Amino acid sequence: MTLRTINAMASRGERFACLTAYDATMARLLERAGVHVLLVGDTAAEVVLGFPRTFHMPLEVSLALTAAVKRGAPGTVVMGDMPFLSYHASDAEAIRNAGRYLTEGLADIVKLEVDASFAPLVGQMARAGIPVCAHVGSRPQLAALTGGYGSAGRTAAEAERIVADAVAMERAGAVMLLVEAVPDEVTQRILASTRVPLIGIGAGTRCHGQVLVVQDLLGMSDQTPRFAAPAAALGDAIVSAGREWVRRVASGEIGGERYRMRAGEAERFGAAGPGAPEVKPASDPVAGR
Ligand code: KIV
Repeated sequence: MTLRTINAMASRGERFACLTAYDATMARLLERAGVHVLLVGDTAAEVVLGFPRTFHMPLEVSLALTAAVKRGAPGTVVMGDMPFLSYHASDAEAIRNAGRYLTEGLADIVKLEVDASFAPLVGQMARAGIPVCAHVGSRPQLAALTGGYGSAGRTAAEAERIVADAVAMERAGAVMLLVEAVPDEVTQRILASTRVPLIGIGAGTRCHGQVLVVQDLLGMSDQTPRFAAPAAALGDAIVSAGREWVRRVASGEIGGERYRMRAGEAERFGAAGPGAPEVKPASDPVAGR
């Protein structure tokens, strides 16, 4: 899977699947599932690091997670999500940071949350050879300014602005677009006005690709966004596996296999001193908690 493959799929009208991933294990499994693009989103700030907002995402952590995902899924397109303030202070710093996603983060493409005012920066990144996915519509990195997360483009004026942002980004050299939390009408106008692959999240079904935060798909989120329909209940499965482990540890039935001493070594060792005292299993380990 390469950016070229994604382009070819989009131009043939074949939809591509994108999910977030933040570690090598999940990346390996999602690659095996045939997911085409893995986004190492700044949502890692929330779902991995436990912060309340995505703007807490540290650049160095994001780079390390991006490289981990690519190592786990070397045959999948990996998108590094540039965090808040990693591309805002100056163009020079932004380009260097974007470049780090390719060299240190092993990413195939970087994503930036933008409006049309970012066109010169996106143009410079394209000039430097950095593939950019421009994220328009709802922009969670602006949460401090806007008062939180929400939808976008629900008035005609705002819808026009989002379409203009998307067009400006494509003209500047973005090779992919992502639109978040907008009504279908906005998505359709973006599709009619641009040619690069468009990924949607909460943006209807017409986009070339669709992305979700993987925890929302797997049923691991306490609050699933209204546009996400879980395809599994891993949250419940993890809680019940955790409970089973608590029970096993308390009862001394941990399962698996034990290491054994080499022939004759146990006798030699036993002669050297007393064994550990026996620990009695709890009578009702789980109820006691
Ligand atoms: O950070 C992220 O996971 C994202 C998606 C929600 C699009 O940007």
